[in-house]
Amino acid sequence: MKRSTLLILSITGVYSAVLHSAAWSVNNFLMTGPKAYLTFSSSVAAGAHSGMEECKFQFGWERWNCPESALQLSTHNRLRSATRETSFVHAISSAGVMYTLTRNCSLGDFDSCGCDDSRNGRVGGRGWVWGGCSDNVEFGEKVSKLFVDALETGHDTRALINLHNNEVGRLAVKDTMKRACKCHGVSGSCSIQTCWLQLAEFREVGNLLKLKYDQAHKLEMDKRRLRAGNSAESRGATAETFHHIHATELVFLEDSPDYCTRNASLGHQGTEGRECLQSGRNLSQWEKRSCRRLCTECGLRVEERRTEVVSSCNCKFHWCCTVRCEQCRTMVAKHFCTRRDPAAPNHSRQRSRAHRR
Ligand SMILES: *[C@@H]1O[C@H](CO)[C@@H](O)[C@H](O)[C@H]1NC(C)=O
Ligand SMILES: *[C@@H]1O[C@H](CO)[C@@H](O)[C@H](O)[C@H]1NC(C)=O
Ligand SMILES: *[C@@H]1O[C@H](CO)[C@@H](O)[C@H](O)[C@H]1NC(C)=O
Ligand SMILES: *[C@@H]1O[C@H](CO)[C@@H](O)[C@H](O)[C@H]1NC(C)=O
Repeated sequence: MKRSTLLILSITGVYSAVLHSAAWSVNNFLMTGPKAYLTFSSSVAAGAHSGMEECKFQFGWERWNCPESALQLSTHNRLRSATRETSFVHAISSAGVMYTLTRNCSLGDFDSCGCDDSRNGRVGGRGWVWGGCSDNVEFGEKVSKLFVDALETGHDTRALINLHNNEVGRLAVKDTMKRACKCHGVSGSCSIQTCWLQLAEFREVGNLLKLKYDQAHKLEMDKRRLRAGNSAESRGATAETFHHIHATELVFLEDSPDYCTRNASLGHQGTEGRECLQSGRNLSQWEKRSCRRLCTECGLRVEERRTEVVSSCNCKFHWCCTVRCEQCRTMVAKHFCTRRDPAAPNHSRQRSRAHRR
């Protein structure tokens, strides 16, 4: 599949559900909307895609591993879950969109936008002045709001939570920005520096948001008022509750379901068949515990599968000019979660479902 096709698919994947329910399609949107939408849509799609890639990376060894079904960024149907995981998806998606738009802008991809030089010439601190090309996050923020927040058509508590979490993602992009400087002065004396603000690697944004996910705040709403369905009243209750929430804090409403087991109606595959890491150089504590987390604690067994891998080795350079290699065979052990043999006399299932993830 060509890359461009992929990007378009990814944006339709992410957004199609809400667009359907709102009775207009992506195509309608692009054709009838202001010209700006046409200009930015490929960038938005690329950003949404990179957000999801980062989500898959961050949750690679978790029970919930950011499946495609999680990408429905909306309150589009009755299954509007507002779990800890949903909050992360919202944050990382809006961060991805803002990040890509900002980067595009600095690279000169858009006629209508360029570096943020609003501070240039001013003294920033001791021995340095603002100068150069600061990444224009205000631009990225504005356009990403236009696209991502607009997907939220509801006005209830869940909608407010989603919008809040979108904003947490955008703040993470800003909060990870770094100052970069260049020395000036006689022969590298660096007596004066010019500095600008630039985006961090997107991985850093992902790491920060993963931390926020771990510390996410469960919103304890007045359930009675919430259930009453009276939107004015529920909004009042929400406003009260949000009062105590910090702007950089992810918020969720519902406890996560059991991600061990497959649940088709929720779109979860369960952990059966998942790979985990048992041995190997340089595993983090978190990775080392992946087999326990994904298999054992979910009542599954860890199965080792050995596969032979053929690769080039002992390569030699011959004059002139070829490289000759041998084919080496090595056995590689991989580990997977499998169901315990039901015929076995003992299968004391030790499920610890209490814990999320
Ligand atoms: C913006 O950047 C993304 C990723 O780097 C790229 O795929 C996309 O084509 C760019 N958009 C424009 C309009 O240049
Ligand atoms: C799937 O999840 C829903 C909602 O949490 C729950 O009511 C249902 O029992 C689950 N189904 C299975 C097969 O676990
Ligand atoms: C192991 O990790 C350390 C620190 O992250 C790194 O410096 C080292 O190169 C790694 N070793 C291998 C074999 O990957
Ligand atoms: C089965 O499990 C029980 C307790 O969990 C243990 O006492 C017993 O020895 C086990 N039997 C076999 C055949 O493994």
